[in-house]
Amino acid sequence: KIELKDFLHINDFDKDTILRILDRAIDVKALIKSGDRSFQPFKGKTMAMIFAKPSMRTRVSFETGFTLLGGHAIYLGPDDIQMGKREETRDVARVLCRYNDLLMARVFAHQDILDLAKYATVPVINGLTDYNHPCQIMADALTMIEHIGQLEGTKVVYVGDGNNIVHSWLLLASIVPFHFVCACPKGFEPDEKTVEKARQAGISKIEITNDPKEAVRGADVVYSDVWASMGQKEEAAYRRQVFKGFQVDKSLMDIAGSKAFFMHCLPAERGVEVTDEVIEAPNSIVFQQAENRLHAQNAIMLHVLGK
Ligand code: CP
Ligand code: NVA
Repeated sequence: KIELKDFLHINDFDKDTILRILDRAIDVKALIKSGDRSFQPFKGKTMAMIFAKPSMRTRVSFETGFTLLGGHAIYLGPDDIQMGKREETRDVARVLCRYNDLLMARVFAHQDILDLAKYATVPVINGLTDYNHPCQIMADALTMIEHIGQLEGTKVVYVGDGNNIVHSWLLLASIVPFHFVCACPKGFEPDEKTVEKARQAGISKIEITNDPKEAVRGADVVYSDVWASMGQKEEAAYRRQVFKGFQVDKSLMDIAGSKAFFMHCLPAERGVEVTDEVIEAPNSIVFQQAENRLHAQNAIMLHVLGK
């Protein structure tokens, strides 16, 4: 297996490859939107999708995308194969790759996706781990290209928990130049090593701050995510206290300025990390982002399958 045929972290690829995948996404999106169904590169292929956590967007966009391009996707929910519990991850990997041309997985521990990739002889795509969410950030980048015209040179301000979404932004910032700011409460900063790595790459300006108001000034994008991720839901009440002041509301968007778009990977807790008013405003592009999961991932699947 060629190592880089997995899609596990954005920075496993160089800038040109990432931008090429995004270009492809634009082309295949136009084709699909036109109603043309003649492009069937995945005909005769199957993909196993392993979900240890819940999902709407990831599950439906991968299954729909693979089907639209001629393939067949198999959903395996948390109770189906119980990876790591009923069977070791390395055994799951070695069995599933004998039936399927492609594996996609959403897991808790990042090590699980690394193990799947290590033991599977077919490409593995990361559909979110506790550490990162590369398919989401590809869809976000595509959405920015569509709305702003480019990713390079923009200012993206993430407000909230320094979580898996932030890590993927940082990994993207280590290969594509833009200004990335994460405004989070003290103690909820992103992984230090990842921040360091992104800074050392010397490609983008990276700032980590505890002051959202100062952070959002002049932003092209204000980005938010839940304060308690999957696996942390029992901390939700405590986090609501700690994250007070990090809600994206109209006054924060006003500070950001009139050119700022609001983005959120969804699902959103309205009235918690973002107000209803902000998510429903004309400059909110959260549903365009959600739609682009389909198109970005189609291009990722085409890339890893060499199509
Ligand atoms: N944004 C995202 O990954 O959504 P799901 O959890 O619904 O897949
Ligand atoms: N940070 C969130 C993202 C959901 C798409 C989580 O991991 O639950």
